[in-house]
Amino acid sequence: MASKQMALLLKNKFFVIITLLCFVVLLSQCSNKDKNLSKETTQKDTATCSSKKINPNGDSELALLMRKMLQSSASLKEMIKQGKLPDKFPEEFLKIHTAKPTDSETKKASFDGFAANYLDNLNTLYHSPKEELTQNYNAVINSCVSCHSEHCPGPIKAIKKLTITK
Ligand code: HEC
Repeated sequence: MASKQMALLLKNKFFVIITLLCFVVLLSQCSNKDKNLSKETTQKDTATCSSKKINPNGDSELALLMRKMLQSSASLKEMIKQGKLPDKFPEEFLKIHTAKPTDSETKKASFDGFAANYLDNLNTLYHSPKEELTQNYNAVINSCVSCHSEHCPGPIKAIKKLTITK
């Protein structure tokens, strides 16, 4: 009789331990998710050039143009992955040469060279045969990265994500 009770008690303990273990596993998964989330948000925060969070003069003309370029690249990527040719050349991106940056010192002497290289690659992409779309698109993204490595390293990680890998 006593040994039967012992067995029952052990069985109960066993279940309690299993239940506890399940909770521990669940909890650790939740906290992992939180960590990933905060990583994403910090990446978003560093997607601008300067560490200054709020620009007192509002977003610069160049920063706004860049955001459009980022969005446009993301939709180009999706189109090209489906083998589609992009629409008309985005004339507004020609303004990259004259658009005013947040800080007047941001545009160094090499800026216009990088900008011309980017526009050249973009032009090639918009006139490229279907089988060269991916390659020409990636060349555009590389020209974003080249300029950014000298002028504005913050968003490089986000820009590199736009590369089409196969
Ligand atoms: C010729 C140099 C140059 C090229 C090419 C270039 N960028 Fe930029 N980018 C800059 C500079 C400089 C800034 C900072 C603008 C400012 O703070 O006023 C910037 C800012 C940005 C920002 C941050 C905007 C914000 O919200 O503050 C993003 C995102 C960005 N660029 C994406 C891109 C993408 C995508 C491409 C290519 C399609 C690209 N850039 C090509 C120089 C360049």
